[in-house]
Amino acid sequence: MIQPVSWLEGTLELLDQTLLPQRELWLTLTRWEEVAEAIRRLAVRGAPAIGIAAAYALVLAVWTAEGEEDAGRKFAEAATGLAEARPTAVNLFWAIRRMEREWSAQAGQPLDTIPNALLAEARRIHAEDIEGNKRIGGHGSDLLPMGSSILTICNTGGLATGGYGTALGVVRAAWSAGRLEMAYLCETRPLLQGSRLNAWELMKEGIPFRILVDGAAGALLARGGVHAVLVGADRIAGNGDTANKIGTYTLGCVAARHEVPFYVVAPVSTIDREIEGGADIPIEERAHEEVLAPLGRPAAPEGSEAWNPAFDVTPAELISAIITERGVLRPPYERSIPAALA
Ligand code: MRU
Repeated sequence: MIQPVSWLEGTLELLDQTLLPQRELWLTLTRWEEVAEAIRRLAVRGAPAIGIAAAYALVLAVWTAEGEEDAGRKFAEAATGLAEARPTAVNLFWAIRRMEREWSAQAGQPLDTIPNALLAEARRIHAEDIEGNKRIGGHGSDLLPMGSSILTICNTGGLATGGYGTALGVVRAAWSAGRLEMAYLCETRPLLQGSRLNAWELMKEGIPFRILVDGAAGALLARGGVHAVLVGADRIAGNGDTANKIGTYTLGCVAARHEVPFYVVAPVSTIDREIEGGADIPIEERAHEEVLAPLGRPAAPEGSEAWNPAFDVTPAELISAIITERGVLRPPYERSIPAALA
């Protein structure tokens, strides 16, 4: 199983996803600031993986603290700094909140036991994600007919999670169950998470895939023969509106046009019950250079400007179901989401 982050004797080992598929370079990080930087530059990415990395980063923050006051200051500083790394994936804030609760629960305990208590909580967040993903995979696979072809965008596999995957976890589970014939992967401009990372994962497991440019997705769905669109999520609002990788909304529109089921696949930690609708989800805008010079090679005249939102919002009305570890949620999401979270 591909695990993008792992704790090793007081350090966080992290697979640098910016270098895949050409190089498999593991970074050894000892400071929370390095983890925040890795999140910012997408060395670790994908909503659940970002949350897990941040949880371990909070352990790093207190690992070598000298005295209770020092530990308290470092923990608070790290929690604030990590929360500023990326704005859209709610799993980041969810994981930080869970670690803050564990920190509070440790109040009054001797300092030498606190880092290990925090580490145990980070490990729980990590293990629960993998467990949950496997359940999601089962629920999702059951929805697919035998001999299915699916279309997906971005990377939602082991690399983007604790180690199994959400939308790509469904692909894995469907393949094991003998239900999958072909996974179509949008390359996912501008940073190519689909062609670099999804393809890298599926190739390792011998799962058949074909890569298409994002603009070809409409033609593929119009041609027929795709049984479902499976996408991940960075944040799901209380009404089911879902923020995910830029281009997801377009897939939702085209899937509706051609009556192809459009499934959002995510753990319940991606649901933000404090946000009612998609308009309130903060959308990250990234550097112009990602669009103007893909993979570092100029692709537009010097002086060009770009618009580079990392995510878009697919309205709930385009979403056939939300597949979670607690089951398959159907519209109206205002009812099914609170029931799943209860
Ligand atoms: O910018 P990224 O690569 O972090 O975007 C990731 C996505 O949009 C994923 O679909 C989402 O985080 C779900 S990952 C299981």
